[in-house]
Amino acid sequence: MNDKKDSRIYSGATPSEIEEDLLPLLDFEAKKLTLKELSKIINQRLIPHLMNYNNPHFISMYNLLPDNGGKFGAEISLEYNQGVTAWEVSPGGVVLEELCCQALCRLFNLSSEADATFMYCGTYSNQSALYLALHWTAEKKYGFDFGKHGLKGFPDLNRLVAVTSTDAHLSLKHAIRVLGLGEESIITVPVDKNHHMDIEALKETLTRLKDEKDIFCVIATAGTTSTGSIDPVLPIATLCNKLNIWCHVDGAYGLSYYLVPEKKPLFNGIELVDSITWDPHKTLGVVIPNSLLFLKRKDDFRRHSIFGDYFNREEDLEPNPGLKSPPTTRPLSALPLVTSIRYTGIDGLRKRLNDNLITIQTVYNELKKDDEIEVCHKPELGVLCIRIIPKNIPKSHLDQLQRFIFEEIKHEGKFSISTTKIDNKAVIRLVVLNEAVNVKSILETIQHIKRIATHYSI
Ligand SMILES: Cc1ncc(COP(=O)(O)O)c(C=O)c1O
Repeated sequence: MNDKKDSRIYSGATPSEIEEDLLPLLDFEAKKLTLKELSKIINQRLIPHLMNYNNPHFISMYNLLPDNGGKFGAEISLEYNQGVTAWEVSPGGVVLEELCCQALCRLFNLSSEADATFMYCGTYSNQSALYLALHWTAEKKYGFDFGKHGLKGFPDLNRLVAVTSTDAHLSLKHAIRVLGLGEESIITVPVDKNHHMDIEALKETLTRLKDEKDIFCVIATAGTTSTGSIDPVLPIATLCNKLNIWCHVDGAYGLSYYLVPEKKPLFNGIELVDSITWDPHKTLGVVIPNSLLFLKRKDDFRRHSIFGDYFNREEDLEPNPGLKSPPTTRPLSALPLVTSIRYTGIDGLRKRLNDNLITIQTVYNELKKDDEIEVCHKPELGVLCIRIIPKNIPKSHLDQLQRFIFEEIKHEGKFSISTTKIDNKAVIRLVVLNEAVNVKSILETIQHIKRIATHYSI
């Protein structure tokens, strides 16, 4: 049993096999179960099918197990089940969240005017940032209250666009859909050969659209999903400031690496942008959900505020974090983040993050020497995309080959890699986050990938 547990990353079962295992758990009309009985069912029928993020061969996604500090805080949050919306539902939780947001602004060297709020995930943080950008634009450029009048206040909706790079995360599409503008309202600019937003292309786009469109937001990504590249924040922010356009940085994955001194210069300009998304649940091993939205000017949060009669009243003197983000019931996310950082210590955290970077850089150097592998980019953070290019496989089959490898691995339950597209070509994506992953375990995965490639038939 243990052997199986150690070597497998999950059971490798098919969706219908998992369904068969889980169905008894879902018979809500059946007699009630004791915790012991529930535990037995869950241990036998669910746990084997869960992904083990602590496996040295889990190198696919931005997920990792919580560290002991994060777990400790999460257990207390669970036990007290605090809703951190208003002072009267959790005085201690409210003050902890406010202090934590201020301490994080200092940690990222944001100005004393900056502030943050906890969110459920990066998708919602990005969504809120775009909402605030649109609201701000309505007020500053059109002189109306977007909260009150909504899209109806704009004279011509066809003019409203947000600009980002082709490598930005799909959550921006969600955001623009929810705003009621539709995906056509996102304009993408190309990336350069290292997958950073091409600043010249951005300048050209902003100039070209100056009279034709109203750009309400430019979104840079600090740590793209596919390659971990960090867009040049300083020139993007400077350009936006000059043109009076809201600048958002999606640092859901990447912002943590600001804490690594060698990487900090890549984030130059972060203090100039209007909003930043950061997901401690991705890189710090803090229990999901744990995401934040930073704003350069705390006063901008007022555009999220809806006052109530029964709570979050305008006249309340105490802090009410629920006025800074939309959910009415909000978890005590600050506690696991605080306990995780304090338990690991800032030096420990820096080391953990830096170890990811050393591992991926070493793997990159190794794979560059391999003529059956194409490395698709120079890694900036902990992500590396490669293509397996065996000599006997024609170029026209290489996309299918990468997909074949991915599908085979997905169903074995022993390794975990991801796949994406770079420059419209299918690639295999490797992500290093978890401490159990090392150069050896990645090279073992590569060997396995190569073995699978030999089974591909044209
Ligand atoms: C760059 C980036 N932004 C946003 C998100 C969405 O974050 P979440 O999964 O927390 O919604 C992701 C997810 O991978 C991401 O990589």
